[in-house]
Amino acid sequence: MDRRDFVKVALGGVAGSLVAPQAVMAEAAQALAGNVYYTKAQPGRWAKKAGGHLPAIEVGNGKMRVTTGHEMKDYEHYIVKHQLFDKDFNLLGERLFDPKTDKAPISEYDLKGYSGPLYATSMCNKHDVWLNEAMA
Ligand SMILES: [Fe+2]
Repeated sequence: MDRRDFVKVALGGVAGSLVAPQAVMAEAAQALAGNVYYTKAQPGRWAKKAGGHLPAIEVGNGKMRVTTGHEMKDYEHYIVKHQLFDKDFNLLGERLFDPKTDKAPISEYDLKGYSGPLYATSMCNKHDVWLNEAMA
């Protein structure tokens, strides 16, 4: 192998090692929906549970309300928390629920002037994390 070919192989190896992890991460991120968290389109193993677990999002007047139509049956079966993220998945707010005192899993947030995509999650103690999105 002459010097020029060696440089090509070396650069190809460096480029390959830089690109490959990103491609692997993108592929892994695609596989998360329906396996690690669930959505209306990708309910995975909880296909029959979407109705009671997908968080509903209402946006208006600079505020946002997240509601999960799920029972709060003591610690046996309840919604543990809601989380709200911006377009870059920065946490904007979260609310932990206590099934002893919270009658329904509803949380409200002040968007503080934020506009753009919003992502809300709802976590059930039995049926995992569900994601929905809206625009503010
Ligand atoms: Fe549940």
